[in-house]
Amino acid sequence: MFKYLFLLLLIIITGCTYLGSSKPILKQSDLEKMIAGRFDAEYVGTDTCLFKCHEHDKLNEHFKKSIHAEQISKETALPLVNCETCHGPGSLAIENIKEVNGKKQCDYETLINLKKLPAGAKNLTCLKCHTISSTPNTVFYRGSAHDINDVACSDCHKLHQSPLQKVGFFEQADMCFHCHKKIKLQFTAISHHPVNEKKMTCTDCHNPHGSNSEKLLKKDSIKEVCVRCHLEKGAPNPFSHGDVTDDCTNCHNPHGSVNDNLLKFREPTLCLKCHKGHHLTSSADSKKLYNRCTDCHSTIHGSTTPKGLLR
Ligand code: HEC
Ligand code: HEC
Ligand code: HEC
Ligand code: HEC
Ligand code: HEC
Ligand code: HEC
Ligand code: HEC
Ligand code: HEC
Ligand code: HEC
Repeated sequence: MFKYLFLLLLIIITGCTYLGSSKPILKQSDLEKMIAGRFDAEYVGTDTCLFKCHEHDKLNEHFKKSIHAEQISKETALPLVNCETCHGPGSLAIENIKEVNGKKQCDYETLINLKKLPAGAKNLTCLKCHTISSTPNTVFYRGSAHDINDVACSDCHKLHQSPLQKVGFFEQADMCFHCHKKIKLQFTAISHHPVNEKKMTCTDCHNPHGSNSEKLLKKDSIKEVCVRCHLEKGAPNPFSHGDVTDDCTNCHNPHGSVNDNLLKFREPTLCLKCHKGHHLTSSADSKKLYNRCTDCHSTIHGSTTPKGLLR
């Protein structure tokens, strides 16, 4: 038994020493050349890319005003983020410039083909700079629902469509709806959170980069997500509705519903999912089963009075 343990220890120690003395296999620049599949390509600089092909493009205008273009090294005064940090070395591309429909076009097949790379590899283009320490928000990206379903950073961040590299508040929902058609439908229901009205948006509740709770929710629980805005529903009540209000989705749809108040079901169906209906024996209509339970049980989220969630 101890013999095996000793052997295991030996393997671990030698493994670690080996790792400690090892060097990176390739420099970043060589790695990019390898992804492009051409080791003979060299870097030519953003000015050359722009001068050769993209001087009068919208793309140029957008890029110049973007936060990526603003990243300049203090020491060298050169851009830290330029065309080639994402697209790979460009010397071969500008060797053969063609005219297509009156527009200059470089031999872009010699660049890294960002459109054809698998999602994981596309993301590495971004993650080499947007590490967890520089962009803490991506800490749960790996293994998130979007990551494992091959959604890439650039599926959401259209870097050349405007100077904005983030996804703007007003553009967000439509961008998400592009893939989430069912959710789009939910927001058209009579009762809905005012997302289409642009008063709030998906990232008020979700973190598209991943999270440590279910459904990419921003907070640890559904209740915490909701009470950020509906503060009064988070206040502890001396007489709570059991623990059902810990999960607001016991009764509410978060996006939209055909029933009032985003309710999953109409009353009394909603209440009768968990309760038996009842008659009030003292009342004149003692035979009647009540329909609108909240006419009497109006403090449905919790009450300050002892029994019954009555007012
Ligand atoms: C931060 C990374 C990044 C930088 C910097 C960058 N690009 Fe891009 N570029 C991309 C991505 C990602 C795509 C889109 C690939 C896709 O559609 O999946 C793209 C697409 C393109 C396209 C294809 C046309 C299109 O709009 O789909 C051209 C041309 C292009 N880039 C040129 C440039 C030039 C020129 C520069 C420098 C001024 C530049 N890019 C800087 C990441 C970058
Ligand atoms: C060479 C390094 C580098 C690469 C590669 C890179 N970025 Fe950036 N990016 C930066 C820096 C630096 C900033 C500015 C500081 C910050 O906001 O973190 C930035 C900012 C951003 C912002 C925030 C803009 C804002 O207004 O707050 C977004 C979004 C972004 N990058 C997306 C991407 C995407 C998507 C990719 C991959 C296609 C990518 N970046 C590749 C360095 C890089
Ligand atoms: C499903 C869509 C989606 C994907 C995939 C995505 N993002 Fe974002 N990203 C957004 C949205 C939406 C915002 C704006 C968030 C906000 O305003 O709260 C954003 C914001 C950002 C920001 C700026 C603000 C911040 O949170 O720090 C950076 C940087 C960024 N994303 C980088 C990335 C990188 C890197 C990847 C890939 C690893 C990526 N994003 C993947 C949708 C996405
Ligand atoms: C008010 C908060 C809130 C807003 C705003 C919101 N969501 Fe949600 N979303 C939730 C909650 C909570 C869940 C989990 C529901 C559940 O588990 O029953 C969820 C679930 C989802 C799911 C998973 C659905 C499933 O059946 O698994 C998707 C996809 C989704 N939301 C997309 C979106 C998109 C896209 C937007 C913006 C257009 C958006 N959400 C806006 C709170 C919100
Ligand atoms: C390029 C397509 C695409 C875009 C854009 C996109 N998503 Fe998704 N999303 C997916 C796929 C694929 C899944 C996994 C399958 C599913 O649950 O539908 C997913 C899953 C989700 C889930 C459910 C996570 C879970 O654990 O079940 C939520 C929530 C979500 N997305 C929110 C958003 C939000 C918010 C945006 C916009 C900021 C967005 N998505 C943009 C493709 C996309
Ligand atoms: C970013 C803030 C925000 C968050 C987070 C939020 N809400 Fe709302 N909620 C609103 C706004 C704004 C309205 C609309 C109020 C109005 O129209 O007067 C609303 C309305 C409602 C309504 C009434 C709908 C109607 O038809 O009158 C219910 C119920 C509701 N929210 C439940 C929830 C639940 C459950 C959650 C968590 C999943 C949640 N909210 C998270 C902002 C928020
Ligand atoms: C047991 C079911 C149930 C649960 C669980 C529940 N609600 Fe409600 N909620 C209702 C009913 C029923 C109404 C309609 C009230 C009425 O008609 O008087 C309502 C109405 C609302 C409204 C709109 C009216 C108002 O009072 O402002 C908001 C906002 C709301 N709920 C938020 C929440 C939040 C946040 C949670 C989770 C902390 C939650 N609800 C959990 C049943 C529930
Ligand atoms: C998801 C299940 C669920 C739903 C839906 C639900 N309840 Fe309840 N309700 C409970 C639980 C659990 C308790 C706590 C039972 C206990 O403590 O004995 C409770 C307790 C109550 C009480 C007694 C409180 C007290 O102080 O004794 C009333 C009254 C009540 N609910 C009314 C309603 C009404 C009205 C609705 C519909 C708007 C509703 N409930 C919807 C699960 C639910
Ligand atoms: C006309 C007013 C009224 C209506 C409408 C009403 N209730 Fe009640 N409910 C009461 C009163 C009063 C009590 C007794 C409170 C007490 O224990 O003193 C009560 C008690 C309860 C209790 C607690 C029972 C217990 O043994 O502690 C539940 C659960 C309940 N009601 C559910 C419902 C449901 C579900 C509906 C709708 C189908 C409903 N109520 C409609 C007035 C009403």
